[in-house]
Amino acid sequence: MATAQRPSLDERRSAAAARLREFGQQHLLHFWDRLSDVARSSLLDEIDALPLEMLQRTFADQSAAPKPDPHSILPVDPVVMDRVDTERYVREGSAVIAANRVAAFTVAGGQGTRLGSDAPKGTFPATPILRKSLFEVFAESIGAARARWSARIPWLIMTSPLNHDATGRFFAAHDWFGLGQESVHLIVQGTLPSLDRAGRVLLATESAIALNPDGHGGAVRALDQSGWLNRLAREGIDTLSYFQVDNPLCKPVDALFIGLHHAHPDSSGEVSSKVVAKTSAAEKVGVFCQRGNSRFVMEYSNMPREMTEARDAEGALLHRAGSIAVHVFGVPFLQRLVREGHGLPLHRALKKVPCIDPETGTHRVPTEPNAFKLESFIFDTVPAARRALVAQTTRTEEFAPIKNAVGEDSPATSSALQSERAAQWLERCGVRIARDAATGRCLAEIELSPRTALDAAALATCATLPARIGAGERLTI
Ligand code: UTP
Repeated sequence: MATAQRPSLDERRSAAAARLREFGQQHLLHFWDRLSDVARSSLLDEIDALPLEMLQRTFADQSAAPKPDPHSILPVDPVVMDRVDTERYVREGSAVIAANRVAAFTVAGGQGTRLGSDAPKGTFPATPILRKSLFEVFAESIGAARARWSARIPWLIMTSPLNHDATGRFFAAHDWFGLGQESVHLIVQGTLPSLDRAGRVLLATESAIALNPDGHGGAVRALDQSGWLNRLAREGIDTLSYFQVDNPLCKPVDALFIGLHHAHPDSSGEVSSKVVAKTSAAEKVGVFCQRGNSRFVMEYSNMPREMTEARDAEGALLHRAGSIAVHVFGVPFLQRLVREGHGLPLHRALKKVPCIDPETGTHRVPTEPNAFKLESFIFDTVPAARRALVAQTTRTEEFAPIKNAVGEDSPATSSALQSERAAQWLERCGVRIARDAATGRCLAEIELSPRTALDAAALATCATLPARIGAGERLTI
């Protein structure tokens, strides 16, 4: 039988050049003559994988994107989690977990540029006293959930080609935090090229395109292409508990939330999302909104000022359902999105992207934003659900993000919030905590391991709680 002959490098180059010319991207071959055959082949692989038509469309669409019309958009009316029949929904959620229908899913493929560390963000030391990494905190929580519900709860973690190996090495070096390597699965997400202000693809080197991870929305594709979506379904797992790597207070397996997702009348069991009330109009979080019967998240940067600042009759922010990027997905829902070809839209954001000059090859490390990164967002799955549940939780219970090196949403603010939640749980158990008389601020530093307690009720059953914690004390429980 004759085998098809692989095209030569020259033939591949000609085909690539014709395709690039059609989309105004011929500069990508500018340094061809200087490259080795190996470098040429790898550059052609990257060019062949470029979704040029989609890049062009995305760039053109967003150059002319109309601002949303505030009059057609209503605020959502979330289900308030501490006002529902908690016992009933925790029972429903617990049954789902105990039946081995739940997997935990962390998206950890981001570049963490604002934090300013090259290491995977999940390896960042996040807790107030012991400086445990974010991955360790989640591992403890998932381990405790496995024990509480005698359930498998596999842990899926999305990495990117940029941090996959380092993430794997970190877990191996920590012996998979005692969870068992066979129950923790790293899935690699895809990449997209960065574009200059004219829509031209940037080169990182003479033979490599400047690629960035394709956004947390890349999770749907990554789950599908890795085979995990179908594997979950085959293993009877219909519930994916999704959270970001940068929030040490999040609850990777929350029976109440899972119960609401499956049994609340406002939920079609497809996608449920947690929100907190925004603290101020200026807070930079996406907000859940409603148009007709469809719910969606509007990014803060897209929200017209009159919407951001609008108040209701009581004087509270009208659009206050701030997303904390915690969701539960029905696996059949994600399978449907894939089957029906619901590509998530690409968003572009102006960022600093190191690149080379397309004419001279000189390396540039920009000090100002110079390029558009393209990303899809996981919350763009929400409008595809028949009834997307939005559940409002208490901020101090589960939101302490680490985004920036200093200032707001930094390791320092996150540590203070972690300590504060521990203090509140202890107070509910009758422990007296030293607080500043004027501000109410907790004056001790407290680190509470998820292994000790997954919630305040579980903490109350701990035998060895102190009677009081004084100002300046540092306590790990
Ligand atoms: P962010 O939007 O905060 O981005 O990601 P980031 O990349 O971590 O940080 P900056 O913007 O560069 O400073 C929110 C969550 O989505 C994940 C991140 O790892 C984080 O858990 N994410 C983001 C991905 O998994 N992949 C991506 O392509 C982007």
